[in-house]
Amino acid sequence: MIQKIQQTADYIRSRVNEIPQTAIILGTGLGALVDHIEDKQYIAYTDIPNFPISTVEGHSGNLIFGKLGNKKVMAMQGRFHFYEGYDMKQVTFPVRVMKELGIKTLFVSNAAGGMNPEFEIGDIMIINDHINLFPEHPLRGKNYDQLGPRFPDMSEPYSRRLIKEAITIAEEKGIRVVQGVYVGTQGPTFETPAEYRYFYRIGGDAVGMSTVPEVIVARHGGMEVFAVSVITDLGVEGKIEQVSHEEVQIAAQKAQPRMMEIMRELVNRFKE
Ligand code: HPA
Repeated sequence: MIQKIQQTADYIRSRVNEIPQTAIILGTGLGALVDHIEDKQYIAYTDIPNFPISTVEGHSGNLIFGKLGNKKVMAMQGRFHFYEGYDMKQVTFPVRVMKELGIKTLFVSNAAGGMNPEFEIGDIMIINDHINLFPEHPLRGKNYDQLGPRFPDMSEPYSRRLIKEAITIAEEKGIRVVQGVYVGTQGPTFETPAEYRYFYRIGGDAVGMSTVPEVIVARHGGMEVFAVSVITDLGVEGKIEQVSHEEVQIAAQKAQPRMMEIMRELVNRFKE
């Protein structure tokens, strides 16, 4: 595994002028942030040795290098989900490569269903903790000490200083944000009413099918993490309606300008 990570990192180094210290996984609600990245250099996932092959047709995926505000960034356009059939090592391989490249801070976005009765569709939830309910752990198996410790601390998975900064930015811009615990599940089904109730009772505020594996691997490698969810549907008793991928995309589209505004400013402002 170490050799593969190094080989992939070497390839990327050979393709870009300068390797940044900040990475962004452009999940749902943040795709259009690409438009704000300047002096872009693209590397197609299909060109990158050892990268998982994308299963989504017409959606090949790219690494994008460039400048966002005053920061050099590396962005992942397209991520790998466990429900697509990748194992956890594949889902999190790009984060391993980030670490090898010298990335220090990781920003992530996703779409999620809200269980907290205070939440509304279109809300932006700053993730302040997570509950990992994926059936396979990304760190299962032999531990490589150069990648991180066998038993990683998880007392502050999401950077408190970045959360604080994001809340300040949202207040300044008059954008409503909520905070909460993200429950990571494998999908691909959305939740039954009983499952939403269960996730709320165990301490979750929102549920989704990504992010947790990447965050675990980032924290294993000592990276600082900031993540946000766009609440695209509600798993709140009395408010549960049929949900489809299309509805999730539409709700995420509507929240995208607000989400982008916060992310752009946060990336611009935080101290690397
Ligand atoms: N459940 C799981 N994943 C999701 C949801 C949901 O309700 N909404 C968007 N992604």
